[in-house]
Amino acid sequence: MLEKRISEIQADALARIGAAKSDEELDAVRVEALGRKGTLAQISKEMGKLAPEERAAAGKLLNAAKQVLEEAFERRKREFDQAALTQRLDAEWIDLTLPAPGPRAGSLHPITQIQMEIEDLFVSLGFMVLDGPEVETEYHNFDALNIPPEHPARDAQDTFWLTDGNLLRTHTSPVQVRGMERFKPPLRMIAPGRAFRNESVDASHEHTFYQVEGMMIDRDVSVAHLLYFMKTLLTEVFRREVTVRLRPGFFPFVEPGFELDIRCLICGGSGCPVCKHSGWVELLPCGLVNPNVLRISGLDTEKWNGFAFGLGLTRLVMMRYGIDDIRLLQGGDLRFLQQF
Ligand code: DAH
Repeated sequence: MLEKRISEIQADALARIGAAKSDEELDAVRVEALGRKGTLAQISKEMGKLAPEERAAAGKLLNAAKQVLEEAFERRKREFDQAALTQRLDAEWIDLTLPAPGPRAGSLHPITQIQMEIEDLFVSLGFMVLDGPEVETEYHNFDALNIPPEHPARDAQDTFWLTDGNLLRTHTSPVQVRGMERFKPPLRMIAPGRAFRNESVDASHEHTFYQVEGMMIDRDVSVAHLLYFMKTLLTEVFRREVTVRLRPGFFPFVEPGFELDIRCLICGGSGCPVCKHSGWVELLPCGLVNPNVLRISGLDTEKWNGFAFGLGLTRLVMMRYGIDDIRLLQGGDLRFLQQF
């Protein structure tokens, strides 16, 4: 009777050991069969009631069953351990013979990228790329550009004056003057760089921004030449044909002076929030160089004339990439910069 129960318990436990899917299930089976209050312990207790010969035979069988089960548990446990190890090795596998990843590549700032494109274009058209100082003299920033001390045009450019009488240039136009001082006409030059104004900073105003100045001095330069170069420039920057128009605009260093607009690239001219429903976007001021400017720098206005333009590089970058807050450009936020 007892023997039959022992072999039933053994067979049942073996089947459940085989079916166990985890360490926990296995432990539960072990406690139930081999634990202090388990089924085999129960049998052990009951054996006390048997006659001595029967007890010896049953005892043998019981010990054999315990041993068989212990071994089965151990084997199954090793299988689980092995499977866990294999899984971990697969997951944490690393090939130490692979070359190390290189340093993270940076990227050029979007302003630098477009500046370089514009420089390449103008160099291909025979223009020099000039540099000028960011700390300028009053003479180069204003007087030589036909803006004398009492001229109201000075008020339009909130200036950071330095204590020594110099200033942070409010535009790149003073490089026109430096170009004329240094080189004889005919002259073709552009001057990209930073300019500074005492602005309160918000989504569309910065105290520091980028411009590209341009100037061409030759014989019989006309508005047609100006338009040709501006259209070439804008087609290159926006990578498609753009329609432009000129409106009169006042700048003391050009006469006539213009505001050049392009047909809105967002709506194609039908009107949208970007162009404030006018179909046109104001892009760059330009004009024919005022003879006073040439004269101040010692050029013979009977022989020479020219055109000039001042491209707002920061604004152009914002338009090309649809950036709606100027502060992002110099904020140094890598999440912004990594997009370029
Ligand atoms: N320097 C002017 C400014 O920053 C822009 C400008 C207008 C430049 C007309 C030019 C020009 O060369 O012809 O407001």
